Amino acid sequence: MIAIATASQKGGVGKTTLCINLAYSLARRGWTTLLVDTDPQGGVGLSLARSTRTKQGFYDFLSGERDFNKLVLPTRLPELQILPTGQYDQCARRGWSAQEVPVRLADLLRAAELRGVDCVIMDTAAGLNGMSESVVKACDYVILPQQAEPLAVRSVPHMLETLSRFRTEGAGVKVAGILMTMVLGESQISQKVVAELRAMLPGDMMFDQVVPRMNSFLEASAMGVPVALLKKNPPPEALIFDQLAAELEQRAGLAQERESTESHASLLD
Ligand SMILES: Nc1ncnc2c1ncn2[C@@H]1O[C@H](COP(=O)(O)OP(=O)(O)OP(=O)(O)O)[C@@H](O)[C@H]1O
Ligand SMILES: [Mg+2]
Repeated sequence: MIAIATASQKGGVGKTTLCINLAYSLARRGWTTLLVDTDPQGGVGLSLARSTRTKQGFYDFLSGERDFNKLVLPTRLPELQILPTGQYDQCARRGWSAQEVPVRLADLLRAAELRGVDCVIMDTAAGLNGMSESVVKACDYVILPQQAEPLAVRSVPHMLETLSRFRTEGAGVKVAGILMTMVLGESQISQKVVAELRAMLPGDMMFDQVVPRMNSFLEASAMGVPVALLKKNPPPEALIFDQLAAELEQRAGLAQERESTESHASLLD
């Protein structure tokens, strides 16, 4: 099993959009995927179904709920499961000790593995401190969405430095890649930022795939679905996250796991 977090210093860069759409694509590609919402504001729950607001979830597990399986919500796609934020305020009132958090996060990942999950996708609140720091440190990989704006050229090195500090503090988390989001196709500034970052960073640091700024992503999150479910026939932009999932499979070594056990597919029986 592989655990992947998303993280950003700044808010509103597209973390939740990434998590929902990527988890959906990974599930469609056959990986049993658990989407975990660790943001107290509960972006994933809100986006997928309003009823997840009232459910127990991540913070309830963190503050002592033992039965992990009771907290996981199935979706209509059998390979996609969701652990919503849960009752953050109630749990925060009871409190939890800072030393316990890494232990409970390790318990959570172990419980997911026991359920047969192949891939855990963890959405975080903005900022690389507090709970988001603990979540990133507990994962195998982190994806870093970056808005395609001039500030990114300065903030990416800073973020990579923070992650390298996490590793010196004992975390095993690796950067799966930097993902450019809200890229405006016709905007010179947007294109310039992407090109500058590609030139500045080591060759494989950035995902080839970028996420363009498109109204359909806004529309999808307002309707509470991955963009692939906006219409009966998914719009072209749904393929962006399939492409990203395929890249991630290579980068995180998911593909190797399967290749070693499976031969090529056949059209006929
Ligand atoms: N590629 C895109 N094109 C257009 N709108 C987008 C795109 N990605 C995200 N959005 C919209 O921008 C807003 C912020 O996106 P999102 O919630 O995914 O960011 P976030 O990083 O999770 O924010 P936060 O830090 O608050 O959790 C949302 O309204 C979302 O629908
Ligand atoms: Mg979010």
